[in-house]
Amino acid sequence: QAILQSDDRLVGKKILVTAGGTQEDIDPVRFIGNHSSGKMGIAIANAAAQAGASVTLIAGQVKNLATLDSRILVTRVTSTNDMAQAVKHDFTDVDALVMAAAVADFQPITRADQKIKKNPDSDELTLRLRKTPDILKQVGQIKRHQFVVGFAAETQNLLQNANKKLIQKNADIIVANNVSNPGVGFGSDDNQVTILTRNHEPEKWPKMSKQLVAKKIIDLISDQIL
Ligand code: CTP
Ligand code: CA
Repeated sequence: QAILQSDDRLVGKKILVTAGGTQEDIDPVRFIGNHSSGKMGIAIANAAAQAGASVTLIAGQVKNLATLDSRILVTRVTSTNDMAQAVKHDFTDVDALVMAAAVADFQPITRADQKIKKNPDSDELTLRLRKTPDILKQVGQIKRHQFVVGFAAETQNLLQNANKKLIQKNADIIVANNVSNPGVGFGSDDNQVTILTRNHEPEKWPKMSKQLVAKKIIDLISDQIL
């Protein structure tokens, strides 16, 4: 059985983590959301706290915040715009950012003030959406000393797609996973990831618990910021 060990490697370091899905309002009673459980981001925040870092978690929709280390400061957000604002507010001051959140990619162009009623003359409804702000890309453009870790959720061409994200978002690491693989997707306790960095070949890690993936990601960050 795994023993959760604490150490003090990261004492004095500040780490910002995002977790869970963002939601985009359609009208006062409906939203667009996704199935993210937030487990991976929560595991990373916990691993950072257990290594002694000061950790802030910006949480969208997450399944169980109860498993969060009590030393972690939590900011709750709903929409992508709110998450973007919270991340940018905290970013200047941190040593590392891990964007594990499942950020909504599109938001309704307008949020209806009143509940959208069914039109008796039509069986269809068209929603107009626009892209949300790309938080990881935006911080990639303003980053200075900060070490930035992003994720890539892919269903095909994992390495090519994830490598594009590494370059286009100016991240230091992309943690890529194939979300169509059985047993490692949304809500699962395990993950199988490939680590992409700028000057090394991609490193495929075996399937392991999200806790262990988190600990190994914190080890990689420690190597870079200490
Ligand atoms: N991300 C973000 N802001 C967005 C969308 C994604 O910060 N509006 C971040 C995610 O938190 C993740 C990384 O960007 O760390 C990659 O997310 P992913 O969904 O894999 O890629 P996208 O850039 O959204 O592209 P696509 O979904 O089309 O593959
Ligand atoms: Ca996306």
